[in-house]
Amino acid sequence: SGPETVSPTGQPTGADPARMAQSGAYLTTAQGARLPDTDHSLKAGPRGPVLLQDHHLREKITHFDHERIPERVVHARGAAAHGVFRGYGTAAKLSKAAFLAKDAETPVFVRFSTVLGSRGSADTVRDTRGFATKFYTEEGVFDLVGNNIPVFFIQDAIKFPDAIHAGKPHPDREIPQAQSAHDTFWDFVTLHTEATHHTLWNMSDRGIPRSYRMMEGFGVHTFRLVDAAGATTLVKFHWKPKLGVHSLVWEEAQIAAGVDPDFHRRDLADAIEAGAFPEWELGVQTFPDTEDQTFEGIDLLDATKIVPEELAPVQPIGLMTLNANPSNYFAETEQVAFHTGHLVPGIDVTDDPLLAGRMFSYLDTQISRLGGPNFGQLPINRTHAPVNDMLRDGMHQTAVHRGVAPYRPNSLDGGCPFLAGEDTGAFVEVPAAVAASRKAREKPASFDDHYSQPRLFWLSMTPVEREHIVAAYTFELGKCYEQAIKERALAVLARIDSRLCEEVAAGLGLPAPGPDSHLTDPEPSQALSQLGGVWPLD
Ligand code: HEM
Repeated sequence: SGPETVSPTGQPTGADPARMAQSGAYLTTAQGARLPDTDHSLKAGPRGPVLLQDHHLREKITHFDHERIPERVVHARGAAAHGVFRGYGTAAKLSKAAFLAKDAETPVFVRFSTVLGSRGSADTVRDTRGFATKFYTEEGVFDLVGNNIPVFFIQDAIKFPDAIHAGKPHPDREIPQAQSAHDTFWDFVTLHTEATHHTLWNMSDRGIPRSYRMMEGFGVHTFRLVDAAGATTLVKFHWKPKLGVHSLVWEEAQIAAGVDPDFHRRDLADAIEAGAFPEWELGVQTFPDTEDQTFEGIDLLDATKIVPEELAPVQPIGLMTLNANPSNYFAETEQVAFHTGHLVPGIDVTDDPLLAGRMFSYLDTQISRLGGPNFGQLPINRTHAPVNDMLRDGMHQTAVHRGVAPYRPNSLDGGCPFLAGEDTGAFVEVPAAVAASRKAREKPASFDDHYSQPRLFWLSMTPVEREHIVAAYTFELGKCYEQAIKERALAVLARIDSRLCEEVAAGLGLPAPGPDSHLTDPEPSQALSQLGGVWPLD
């Protein structure tokens, strides 16, 4: 007596597919009555006033008036594609997730996005790109809601509203659209120096990708894989594009933003239509699930830190191929709802405080964006696993539930008893130890190191990449009105690398500050220091 949901193709029972395709010999009202004319409103004579009784006019305009839904509060502009994920089986020893088994094939839907611009903004602006993947697995939906940059601006989700308020256009003039070239952005990232690493990636060529098909993707946080025996491994997820990683140069990005603001979505759709299906390998870096959740001195719960691949290589676990464009932008790309809480048995979260906030935020925002709690019934969001959830009613409910007892246990509808102690293939949270036993609005000392990894990133760049970074800081900071913000930004750069700071200062026509003597950076881990010795080019 589970709920009777809509058909697998997404149409309510009795729906006429011809109507969905908007074809057929006759135009009708929404109720199916045939219409003689949809071009002239009903008037008292050809030049007379329009009559209130024209219900077709009212239906048509009323529906139009409500066509828009709110855009996403972040990642509003996106483009998406359907595809398939095939497991290599190499992760099967770490995770019992069925879709990771050898040769298991799982349908996917991927949405790429910019973060800060509105729905109509240009594609090629300097920004982070979203890379969100929905796996329709036989055990339920798994969403990997990642970005093309492996670190994040902040370490604790409580700062997310602040970071986005600073990154979005100024509240007075609402400019700029989708650029980091403004005072509030630089004010925030220089006052919250945990943002330094992500900002540096943004100012590098990674901030202006050549194509969605040529971007890496990262789960950013550390996740926990669970095998059939309950053993756990900490992992970071990586998508590696088969086409390699490529960027635009700044002049190209600027020209494309003007000449073809749809550059990235056109590129993705055209490639798929031409049969040049983009592919990514999914891989994991693995770390032992130790009590302190660090690896080589790097805090795995700090989303502003990577683990260099030299220390933990990315091991491939499957291949994703995007092979079909959406047929309806609104129904698919706009209404898709990703959520870090969409997990399947074999994959669990860690105590990263940034991830914790995301576990709340996505469902919450989608209730207002998609009009109530039933958006899981929209075709693009519907799981491919059987549903028996006892959720009832609410705005935009399309399921016609049967049964009288939507609670368990019950003695009226029967069936579905809880099978205590039996493995039912359920998602069971890992009974991981909880770190602290005392409530505190604090952070671990390891979160204080804001510079050793940006330094490592800078030192790993080739000369031409460094030139691009210097030019990007100079351009973006050059747009700031407040001198004090530029000076603070230079002080941050001085703590990454004196040459970086001097070159940006020269570009801005300002003196380069010396190292800030009253500030001392925490020591980077030994492993990082050793890498630092290997990577510098000069
Ligand atoms: C949307 C990634 C942090 C709140 C998105 C999307 C991506 C993403 C890819 C777009 C999904 C789509 O295409 O529909 C990330 C990553 C983060 C991060 C990688 C950090 C590692 C956060 C945090 C919060 C948050 C900390 C809030 C506390 C949201 C919201 C949306 C969103 C509200 C809009 C969702 C919707 O309307 O459907 N994020 N995000 N994100 N994110 Fe995040």
